Amino acid sequence: MTLDPFLHGASDPAPGPEHGQTAASCTAVFKYYRTADEEVLALKGIDKDFPSGRVTAIVGPSGSGKSSLLRILACVDRPSDGYVRIGGVDVSDMRPRQRRALRRRSVGYVFQDPIDNLIDYLSAADQMRLAARLRGVAPEEEEIRRVLRLLDIEARIDHHPAQLSGGEQQRLAVACAVMGRPAIVVADEPTAELDSASADGVLEAIHELRTEGAAFIISSHDPRVMEAADHLLRLEHGEVVETW
Ligand SMILES: Nc1ncnc2c1ncn2[C@@H]1O[C@H](COP(=O)(O)OP(=O)(O)O)[C@@H](O)[C@H]1O
Ligand SMILES: [Mg+2]
Repeated sequence: MTLDPFLHGASDPAPGPEHGQTAASCTAVFKYYRTADEEVLALKGIDKDFPSGRVTAIVGPSGSGKSSLLRILACVDRPSDGYVRIGGVDVSDMRPRQRRALRRRSVGYVFQDPIDNLIDYLSAADQMRLAARLRGVAPEEEEIRRVLRLLDIEARIDHHPAQLSGGEQQRLAVACAVMGRPAIVVADEPTAELDSASADGVLEAIHELRTEGAAFIISSHDPRVMEAADHLLRLEHGEVVETW
């Protein structure tokens, strides 16, 4: 194996982490929110590793802390206490600018509402090209086609979001989230706005794309998300009550 990065062609994919290696982890993560009249303790000491090439479901009732944890893992928010590592780098104490750069390079994010994930005047292929470029990776046409084919939306390559169903939009959002090989892909209730057949399609998409190497971390109320998951973290009142 060569260690000289200049010997790699510019078009070689970035060497992703081995499947099963820890892509992200949290150690003793606490989150408090201070409002005018009270302090909410949303996460009470969360420990969990998130392996690459695997899907981890984060489940629990409304208010249990799922979104708080996902925002911290996605480097959108910081823990009040504890450590978060992404690709071996401790992000808990990073300055905002560094954290933004790491987020852009290493985190794919899928919002609940499909339309929030897409830009209405770009075709499917252009959304994916943009997603790769934002991660600092030159988009490859073959890669775009391959990912769209995996998700069964290759015929939609030149279509705009308004021409796609909600389920197709969300599959495209997942496709964009893996472009440029981020370390983790975070999805907060990605099936909540979809009918059950479309939700199944999105879960299948996530299942297919986990072989691309990212650690998928998905929150949901939907029990089918657990079936699609390799690992689980169940929260109640900000505490882990079940994990595997
Ligand atoms: N910005 C905030 N300010 C104050 N409290 C918040 C804020 N965000 C979330 N919370 C509170 O933290 C707890 C966990 O919320 P959240 O992480 O959104 O849970 P979930 O996603 O499981 O519904 C809830 O009690 C919620 O009201
Ligand atoms: Mg939530």
